[in-house]
Amino acid sequence: MTTKEIQIHDKSFYPFISESEIMTSVKTLAKALEKDYEGKDLLLIAILNGAFMFASDIMKCIQRDAEISFVKVSSYKGTQTSGRVDELIGLNNNMENRHVVILEDIVDTGITIDKVISLINANDPASVEVCTLLYKPEAYKGKHKPKYIGFEIPNKFVVGYGLDYNELGRNLKELYQLKEE
Ligand code: IMP
Repeated sequence: MTTKEIQIHDKSFYPFISESEIMTSVKTLAKALEKDYEGKDLLLIAILNGAFMFASDIMKCIQRDAEISFVKVSSYKGTQTSGRVDELIGLNNNMENRHVVILEDIVDTGITIDKVISLINANDPASVEVCTLLYKPEAYKGKHKPKYIGFEIPNKFVVGYGLDYNELGRNLKELYQLKEE
């Protein structure tokens, strides 16, 4: 892993979690899912954009049948109400009586995952759990703490391995943390 700091847009970032540390964690999470969902109908749902790299690697490590779907959370203003309406774009799978595991790159405040869980629950799955590579306990205010967590990290901005800073940095193989000025 490079020890050099990098520049993305106007910010500097330090190397934080190496590619091999990420892969060790991904393998551990895949093994845990294999064990816990043995004999069960497993449906993975990955949240785009950030989770694409994590979802790809975890899929390659799961040595059993597993279906995957990629969804995007979209918020829009309802025409009749003043409130915001959320929907999951790309959710076409039948979930009734199936065991759903949501794949996230990072759970920060937990707002996104809470929304996704309530939208998925409307489809009557047998169970829903969250598997996230990164979790920021100090920022978390949600109702559903992820069951499967790769790394608990401090409340600092990170990029790489699918996560972006203003759309750049997603292609980095390792994770970088924002350098405080
Ligand atoms: P939450 O709703 O606050 O839990 O976070 C939702 C989304 O914010 C995540 O899925 C990421 O896309 C983004 N996010 C949160 N923290 C970071 C970070 O440190 N780096 C990059 N994106 C982040």
